[in-house]
Amino acid sequence: MTPSLRFPLPAGGTEQARFSVPLAMRWNLHAPRGSPREAGGTLRRGASSSYPRLPAYSPKRAEFLPLAGVSLDGANRGRVQSWRIRPARRVRGVWRPPGDKSITHRAVILGLLAHGATEIEGFLESDDCLRTLRMAQQLGASAERVGAAHWRIVGRGGQPLQEPADTLDAGNSGTTARLMAGVLAAQPFFSVLTGDESLRRRPMRRVVEPLQRMGARIDGRDGATRLPLAIRGGELRGIHYLTPVASAQVKSCLLLAGLHAAGVTEVAEPCLSRDHTERMLHAFGATLQQQVSDAGAHRVRITGGQRLEGQRLTIPGDFSSAAFWIAAALLLSGSDLTIEHAGVNPTRTGLLEALAQGGVHLEWQAVSEQAGEPTATLRVRPQPIGAMRIDGALVPSLIDEAPILALLATQAHGETELRDAAELRVKESDRIEAITTELRKMGAQIDPLPDGFRVQGPTPLHGAEVHSHGDHRIAMTLAIAGLMAHAGETVVHDVACVQTSFPEFESLLQALVEE
Ligand code: S3P
Repeated sequence: MTPSLRFPLPAGGTEQARFSVPLAMRWNLHAPRGSPREAGGTLRRGASSSYPRLPAYSPKRAEFLPLAGVSLDGANRGRVQSWRIRPARRVRGVWRPPGDKSITHRAVILGLLAHGATEIEGFLESDDCLRTLRMAQQLGASAERVGAAHWRIVGRGGQPLQEPADTLDAGNSGTTARLMAGVLAAQPFFSVLTGDESLRRRPMRRVVEPLQRMGARIDGRDGATRLPLAIRGGELRGIHYLTPVASAQVKSCLLLAGLHAAGVTEVAEPCLSRDHTERMLHAFGATLQQQVSDAGAHRVRITGGQRLEGQRLTIPGDFSSAAFWIAAALLLSGSDLTIEHAGVNPTRTGLLEALAQGGVHLEWQAVSEQAGEPTATLRVRPQPIGAMRIDGALVPSLIDEAPILALLATQAHGETELRDAAELRVKESDRIEAITTELRKMGAQIDPLPDGFRVQGPTPLHGAEVHSHGDHRIAMTLAIAGLMAHAGETVVHDVACVQTSFPEFESLLQALVEE
């Protein structure tokens, strides 16, 4: 075993994980000329704020009523059905993205399992994370909204969770369903996990099969491969499991089950998927062992029966949400966008590595760390983009950015190819099909591949009537495409899905964009 750039471990055998992340990642880090960092100092917050400052992320209270018994579908979705987008000149401002979706889910789940209170600031109050929160309440946690994006959760303190009185509905959220399946499998009661129409189509065998091997009794639709799943949890035993695809949801499900299983649970994955669960378990006091091989394969082990302590956490800004505005600022001439407190965990920032292949380097102005998660201030200005070739171990670290990457590739000079990304076909939509179909309507030269896409650029895009396929990341990519189209209005249909991850997106179309 040798050290890895992505997750460096000392040479030799199994080691306890080290969770500090090197600042020098694989792409070039540039400090702007004369910046405090270049001068050897640390950057003050907003040091570059000759730009208009936006108000902090503060969702309207009325948008988040699900915990008062209002249906999520009614309360948070369906207000705005389509966007009309006109070509824009540029994006400008200093902006702090909303909290990271993946990390918010994990904070709630570990808060549910931990002793004492967990305070979460920068909580992403989106449909998906509120589903996880509501499920935690159904399982016996108490949750209080202390302020905007600030929640206090008091968990079960290592006691068994409470048998839910009703079905547990993950809505559109794959992370909620798959991670909670791992939690429920170890509980001494019966529960039924379900989701919306899109989630009920998505594959669940990937978590059901290893959980059954650990001793869980799980039944469900389509031979227990789809939601709803009926789970009769109980005593689990640790297993060694090799995941067929690098999936953080599968890995996290098994680590959460392993936390309550007898003995050691080991999850091996072909390459490292996002590691927020490992980092957060560590922050809550658990011990894990991790290894990364020469070839990038990853394995992580957890011993059952460990005690978690509630924490006070600040959730980093969601890099996947920031990615839409990074793309907008790169593509619209005259743009200048500073993104503060962006999560830059290297298992999430593969888009920056892909862009570096195309000769694009963002300026990094400050870096800090919160509960084991690195954050940075990024400054984005337009740059020419060269062709990119993305495959292998890089793919999991940009899997959610594939749609926006496709848009960037339409403006890159040369042929860009994304491969080894067949997982895109089982996301909230078939993202390969969805993005190629819709970007073609706007004039893009993009071809679907079984496991990715091929794009010829640069090609001017024009406004068109396009459809989100019910997928938040497709909707937002098409909105950014509409902003950088050279002519014509773009109408993006079925955009309520954006509430699942980025409720603030719509207001940013006004706040950050200059026509
Ligand atoms: C997520 C993992 C990824 C990602 C999803 C969130 C998570 O899914 O696409 O949006 O929070 O663990 P997979 O684990 O299926 O790759």
